[in-house]
Amino acid sequence: MEGQDTTPREALGTTVRRLLDGMDLEEKIGQLCLVNGAEGSIPQWLAEDVAAGRVGGILNEVDPTVACQLQQLALTRPSGLPLLMGRDVIHGFHTVFPIPLGQAASWSADLVEACAAHAAVEAAACGLNWTFAPMLDVARDPRWGRVAESLGEDPLLVSRLGAAMVRGFQGGDLRDPTRLAACAKHFAGYGASEGGRDYNSCPLSERELRQVHFPPFQAALEAGVATVMASFCDVDGLPASANAFLLDQVLRGEWGFRGFVVSDWESVGQLTLHGVAEDEGDAALQAAKAGLDMEMAGSSFRRHLANLVRDGALTLERLDAMVAAVLAVKERLGLLEGLRPLPTEPSPDVGAALAYKAALECAVLLRNEGELLPLRRDAVRTLALLGPLADEAAEQMGTWVFDGEAARSVTPLTALRKWEGPGFQILHHAGLDTTRDLDARHLDDAAALAARADVAVLVLGEEAILSGEAHCRADIRLPGAQEELLRRVAATGTPTVLVLMAGRPLALEGIHDLPHATLCMFHAGNQAGPALRDLLFGVAEPVGKLPVTFPRQSGQLPVHYSHNPTGRPADEGSYTPMAQIPQGAKQHSLGNTSHYLDAGYTPLYPFGHGLGYAHLQLRNLRLDREELKAGERLSITVELVNEGPRAGTETVQLYVRDLVASLSRPVKELKDFRRVCLEAGDRMELRFQLGEEDLRFVGRQQRWISEAGRFQLWVGTSSAAGLEAFFTLA
Ligand code: GLC
Repeated sequence: MEGQDTTPREALGTTVRRLLDGMDLEEKIGQLCLVNGAEGSIPQWLAEDVAAGRVGGILNEVDPTVACQLQQLALTRPSGLPLLMGRDVIHGFHTVFPIPLGQAASWSADLVEACAAHAAVEAAACGLNWTFAPMLDVARDPRWGRVAESLGEDPLLVSRLGAAMVRGFQGGDLRDPTRLAACAKHFAGYGASEGGRDYNSCPLSERELRQVHFPPFQAALEAGVATVMASFCDVDGLPASANAFLLDQVLRGEWGFRGFVVSDWESVGQLTLHGVAEDEGDAALQAAKAGLDMEMAGSSFRRHLANLVRDGALTLERLDAMVAAVLAVKERLGLLEGLRPLPTEPSPDVGAALAYKAALECAVLLRNEGELLPLRRDAVRTLALLGPLADEAAEQMGTWVFDGEAARSVTPLTALRKWEGPGFQILHHAGLDTTRDLDARHLDDAAALAARADVAVLVLGEEAILSGEAHCRADIRLPGAQEELLRRVAATGTPTVLVLMAGRPLALEGIHDLPHATLCMFHAGNQAGPALRDLLFGVAEPVGKLPVTFPRQSGQLPVHYSHNPTGRPADEGSYTPMAQIPQGAKQHSLGNTSHYLDAGYTPLYPFGHGLGYAHLQLRNLRLDREELKAGERLSITVELVNEGPRAGTETVQLYVRDLVASLSRPVKELKDFRRVCLEAGDRMELRFQLGEEDLRFVGRQQRWISEAGRFQLWVGTSSAAGLEAFFTLA
């Protein structure tokens, strides 16, 4: 079905309309071509194409001098238009913040916005004006390498943080030369790639798409995102790059999107590999008709659009709409009035301060037996710092750090060495060369240091290359001989802290209870070292909450908190764990409920979980009514008390369950959350509100509806438990 979005000319701005009227076919098609730069040079072919108006944008050029030369080349023609200059500025530029999954662990829209805003000015200083972020794919299978780039498994959390990232990149006015046009990607459903294998099919129903995967993109559009990127994957059999339902019916027809849609890298030509296009020309036609406006890399548009228009296969009206969409974004950026001035890049110290704050807030304290943490400086004279990630400036930055500078990284070893002096000594041994190293010859040397220390801190996890695009893992345990290193260190009896630096949750079954404390930092960026040191010793407290579920083992995947109840839900006692099955057990003797014989039915650490250093308790949950009528608001209050011994922060979460509906509804859905900090001994009343619109779901007719009936709600500090109440929607 041809994309219906052919914005009528009168609806276009006068400038865009005038430009369109003055462009010939080749110039129009040029605006639809996003070409990969030559990273610091301008080869002859690129200079000629830009000067001839055959290029609308360039990606991956970050040398400001070259960027300015390319812009001047683009303006050599009377109708010349400045170029979009794009780059994957995903979690920082020269300064590297925690990976998006780590930033999501902060549950802080303010922090996410601040990191995006800082990255924008650093990138704009290099001549960029467009970033391919935020990535808004709801990711529920951490075998998928791109879970690192996601904001987690929950549509509400991804929506709120994704919108914040858009605001950070774009600011209030895209004419501001310190801001970038953002790009909501990858539309849509990419996070549901089957088996967590990148680029795989996404067998999603329309209802699942609308219920789970669309909301973050709607939130990004409401935040004014300038562009959208189509995903690589086929969605229920039709690749997103040629999917008129996604790109036209929903994005433009239902949501009124007025920016432009860019393909992913060569994804137009890949329609032939998907088996839906005969050849490149057919691919170009299908993509253009479906609502795709610009082709990233690849040459389908450049080679075929002119003939497709001349042959009448593609209407000039549709082509003009594609060009108008691109021109409209250039107009928002102020590019139709000329080039943007390059802002001055902030000093590295400014970025470092924010990166430190972000690294603190992305850390999630998963386990703290005996309250080993925070360590007391007067009680720790010797600290053994062990593991292959204790001193890896580049690895701690994680994936998607094209322009990140490892020189700006401070590793855990560097940070702890700064505290060395009389009475405090660091013993360091990596134990393994890399996180994948299977050579166990040095494990005992590392464990021997632990035996001499008051506390052992193991920094384990994944090198950066083990997550990110196309870097999926079928078995998400600690790679290499890291588990064995942990076993040998724990066997010394020295109190042990496990620090995880990874691009995903890891399967810790069999080792999770060896360390006294476990702190997950994901890949925390340049300032992971000082943040870890200060968290270990209580200079700061961990405030993070899991944005993604930690499974017990890979075989449980996908496992996320907001699952449907099934007709045979498991609970304790409803099944027999495999180790306890009596010999010769009869077939029906084990309990027919939804579980694994060898993994049960619960995750290791649930979505929303995260400990702190203070004892904060929720009390006294109250609703202001038992029945909620349309148009009213249900007011939910709860008291948070800090029982000490120190100031503490808690992210209080509100979950709801629709107990009976025309479709089976998830056992829990996050509806709101609030982070509060309380001094020891203080108490605070928190108030949440719910309206009928918060209780809607996508019904059988693919529309958001609510249905009268009983609801259960929880107010808690994770998705696993909380104070509960019931109410009725009239
Ligand atoms: C990649 C990614 C996309 C990225 C683009 C440009 O393949 O899928 O997220 O923005 O190409 O690097």
